Amino acid sequence: MFLEQIVATSVCHSDLYHLFEYMHPEGFPTVLGHEAAGTVESVGPGVTEFQPGDKVIPIFLCQCRECRFCKSPKTNQCELAWTRVCQKIMASVESRFTCRGKRVLQFMGTSTFSEYTVVHQSAVAKIDPAAPLDKVCLLGCGICTGYGAAVNTAKVEPGSTCAVFGLGAVGLAAVMGCKDAGAERILAVDINSQKAEKAKAFGATDFVNPKDHNIPINQVLAEMTNGGVDYSLECVGKVEVMRTALESCMEAWGVSVIVGWTDMYDIAIRPSHLICGRTWKGSMFGGFKSKDGVAQMVKAYMDKKLMVDEFITHNMTLDQINNAIDLMKDCKCIRTVMSVSPQ
Ligand SMILES: NC(=O)c1ccc[n+]([C@@H]2O[C@H](COP(=O)([O-])OP(=O)(O)OC[C@H]3O[C@@H](n4cnc5c(N)ncnc54)[C@H](O)[C@@H]3O)[C@@H](O)[C@H]2O)c1
Ligand SMILES: [Zn+2]
Ligand SMILES: [Zn+2]
Repeated sequence: MFLEQIVATSVCHSDLYHLFEYMHPEGFPTVLGHEAAGTVESVGPGVTEFQPGDKVIPIFLCQCRECRFCKSPKTNQCELAWTRVCQKIMASVESRFTCRGKRVLQFMGTSTFSEYTVVHQSAVAKIDPAAPLDKVCLLGCGICTGYGAAVNTAKVEPGSTCAVFGLGAVGLAAVMGCKDAGAERILAVDINSQKAEKAKAFGATDFVNPKDHNIPINQVLAEMTNGGVDYSLECVGKVEVMRTALESCMEAWGVSVIVGWTDMYDIAIRPSHLICGRTWKGSMFGGFKSKDGVAQMVKAYMDKKLMVDEFITHNMTLDQINNAIDLMKDCKCIRTVMSVSPQ
């Protein structure tokens, strides 16, 4: 364990999911926030990898490097992950926080809407000390999640046709991943037409608003692509969109990836939609082995091979957290970065 001073943090939809959508009574009180960057303040016993002053990004998915999951190339899950113990409340019951003597849960193992947080060394990536923390904090969740879902999980191929549903930071990063993987056509789908321009800046070739059509959106996409897309990525977190994304892929070989998060409902699908040849997958943190993936993505940004600054639409300070949450709730931002402590 060590103490990290948070320098910058941003709001991701998963914070809103916990706060306004799932609202599980056992999940509160909690300190939200999981997309951040900071500096190691002090280290506890047994911490060998980090020293005070190191620049770091906390990660909601750990990588202990020792367990059977970490040792397998087939997964980026880790047996130490909080998701394996207490998924329903998105927080470990063994919290490291108290407030006036009462336990406060640590959200997703991170809790970054705070000046300081205590993190496990398996859930932190050491990064290039020259990296601007008020930018690379976004690599702690949204960008790695969407980009990796396209590149690592869907394994988008050059020349392919893709559809991305939901154009928040996660979906826009998925668009960017599809583009970098060589997709020829990228159909960006959102019920908010204001996202069209941004999607095109990240590589989308077409924008489709389901509200502009009176037939199901999978039929619209099938007509635009001669039968369906090769890859679809659901970056919204709604089960009906997950189903639509699967149905939007080419029946013979389409691959659909669920990236949006929800654990509130089951999904229904006709078995024949899979039997004919579609593949349905899920992706957590973009399929990246988390510590390795974050360091690699920070390097790509520093080498000017990855867009990050373009996701930031607002800058605030941590005391404006409620305004930042409202902006995302009202669909008026991509990412709001809050400065917490001096860099
Ligand atoms: N799998 C993971 O590891 C992981 C990690 C981070 C976030 N997430 C999840 O990814 C999702 C997206 O996160 P974000 O921060 O980009 O959210 P966001 O709120 O910024 O973006 C969501 C977008 O979806 C659009 N949308 C809503 N309903 C739609 C519909 N019916 N059809 C098409 N578009 C629709 C909204 O207009 C918005 O642009 C959330 O569910 C979040 O919890 C998953
Ligand atoms: Zn997130
Ligand atoms: Zn592990």
